Amino acid sequence: MKVNGKSMRSIWPVGDAAVKVIDQRLLPYQFKVCELARAGDAEHAIRTMMVRGAPLIGVTGAYGLALALRADPSDAALAGAHARLLDSRPTAVNLRWALDRVRDAVVELPPSERAAAAWEEAGGIAREDVALNSAIGANGAEILRALHNRLRRTVNVLTHCNTGWLAAVDFGTALSAVYAAHDKGIPVHVWVDETRPRNQGLLTVWELAAHGVPHTLIVDNAGGHLMQRGQVDVVIVGADRVTARGDVANKIGTYLKAVAALDSGIPFYAAVPSPTIDWELEKGEDIPIEERAPSEVLEVAGLDADGNTVRAKLLPEGSAVANPAFDITPARLVTGIITERGVAEPWRLRDLFPELPPTDD
Ligand code: MRU
Repeated sequence: MKVNGKSMRSIWPVGDAAVKVIDQRLLPYQFKVCELARAGDAEHAIRTMMVRGAPLIGVTGAYGLALALRADPSDAALAGAHARLLDSRPTAVNLRWALDRVRDAVVELPPSERAAAAWEEAGGIAREDVALNSAIGANGAEILRALHNRLRRTVNVLTHCNTGWLAAVDFGTALSAVYAAHDKGIPVHVWVDETRPRNQGLLTVWELAAHGVPHTLIVDNAGGHLMQRGQVDVVIVGADRVTARGDVANKIGTYLKAVAALDSGIPFYAAVPSPTIDWELEKGEDIPIEERAPSEVLEVAGLDADGNTVRAKLLPEGSAVANPAFDITPARLVTGIITERGVAEPWRLRDLFPELPPTDD
């Protein structure tokens, strides 16, 4: 996608010993590129949410493991870096998937060959991510086209969190569908949930504005009201992990949008590249939910009158706070899962992946 007319991705290699990323904690106020040259840098970037979004977390982890092997290609270093990176954020399964893939690609190699092979594998994961999310865009755009053909007016999409190119390597997941539809001339307007406490909705606004997609920022509690009033035609979100039976873990607040959508008869889709599907888990309840720092809830950030980024306290420290970062939307509330292979009802998700071994039932 483009920033100020220049093509950009959310992560890119610099030679074969570092990657650059955008510090997403500073957006939309400040655009700053940072270099990650050591595994510890990658771990820090994921932990602090300098990079975020399930696919990007996975790709950053993959490069981080490759950087660890450049410093020390031993078996112990491989296992240690894999464990530390895996621990950096628990919910998005893309991280485990990408780390396992890099580890499996190098573990049988002599140590002297591991760093180069890991770097190549991480680059392959990044390139694949772009292809998967481009295909998701094409498949999701057909849903928006069908709605437009029926309604004969602008299609109003409601989305939660940030699922655009910042959250992946390029294009994104749910927003990839919006971009593809917009680029094909299908008129779309996006209701953007603010997504407290980290306000990833502001990243979505920044992306949509740059791409020229009409959009409106709303507070997280406005969606249900808009749905009741017929001002939302479809909800499309991303996911951090989807179980084999189609339960969807996504940013906190997603579940409430799905409940409201069902009550108002509005279709609810999750746009999900296959590395986000955890075929080893059946039940959404078994997905680990990240609990983040109370300070995220107790403070807000913004610009002061002089344009400086400032943080302001909402309550005194010591107030009781819970800050679960994700929730589970049960498959029964999900109309369809948009993947790179096509769109399936949650209970038919496996049919899109016939190469998987059959299940017991
Ligand atoms: O905490 P974040 O910002 O990493 O959470 C991101 C989300 O929940 C996205 O909706 C999800 O990763 C899908 S994005 C491609």
